[in-house]
Amino acid sequence: MNDRLSSIFDAIPPCKIFADIACDHGYIAYAMLNSGKCERAYISDISAKSLVKAEKLLSAFIAEKRAESFVSDGFDNLPKADTALIAGVGGALITDILDRANKAGKLPENLILQPMKHCDRVRRFAVGLSYKIEKDFTVSADGQFYDIIVLKKGKDSLTPEEAEFGRTNIRELPIDFKEKIRVQIGKLMSYAARDNIADDTRAEMLKKAKDLEKYV
Ligand SMILES: C[S@@+](CC[C@H](N)C(=O)[O-])C[C@H]1O[C@@H](n2cnc3c(N)ncnc32)[C@H](O)[C@@H]1O
Repeated sequence: MNDRLSSIFDAIPPCKIFADIACDHGYIAYAMLNSGKCERAYISDISAKSLVKAEKLLSAFIAEKRAESFVSDGFDNLPKADTALIAGVGGALITDILDRANKAGKLPENLILQPMKHCDRVRRFAVGLSYKIEKDFTVSADGQFYDIIVLKKGKDSLTPEEAEFGRTNIRELPIDFKEKIRVQIGKLMSYAARDNIADDTRAEMLKKAKDLEKYV
């Protein structure tokens, strides 16, 4: 597993039935079963071709009936799991999958999300579906930054700042989050230094950079 996948794996709580939605390679489900962190696992992907990779990797677990594979759009064809992961896909796809799972009564107790973009929308949507944030933090892995959102069924509400940056990031200012903010400030400053931008745009960039300084 690469650093992104290792960070996701570490964030998943021990559970009975783990579902890896959009699993592709299946590395996380394999690690969950191999480490004993879950009793059983569902591997699922909308692409039958992608799922073959995971089925090969998990063949021993499939043979002993600790893993089952499903070609599925989100949770559509899956039995209920207590814990699910949706990682490495866009935020719009994640909210769409969660919306359908909610209507079908298939939302799990624990949800781990790693959106590739629109993390703010994903946080708001999940909290609107009656999830509370357990942990919500940025990891720097393989030359990029990723947000990992760990949720459990329960009541919660988000401040605009928490929705934008992640609660754990705001409260604990972890090193990887600070690094991400420093990179953002650098980009804003170099954009503001260009000759060919309007004065109000430059002022806006500089203000954004200044507002971010409190996090580093
Ligand atoms: C970039 S891979 C991510 C794999 C893995 N989750 C990870 O984080 O490394 C995206 C996977 O999402 C699958 N996918 C896309 N839309 C999906 C959907 N609606 N339901 C299930 N899987 C989907 C694709 O087939 C692909 O295998």
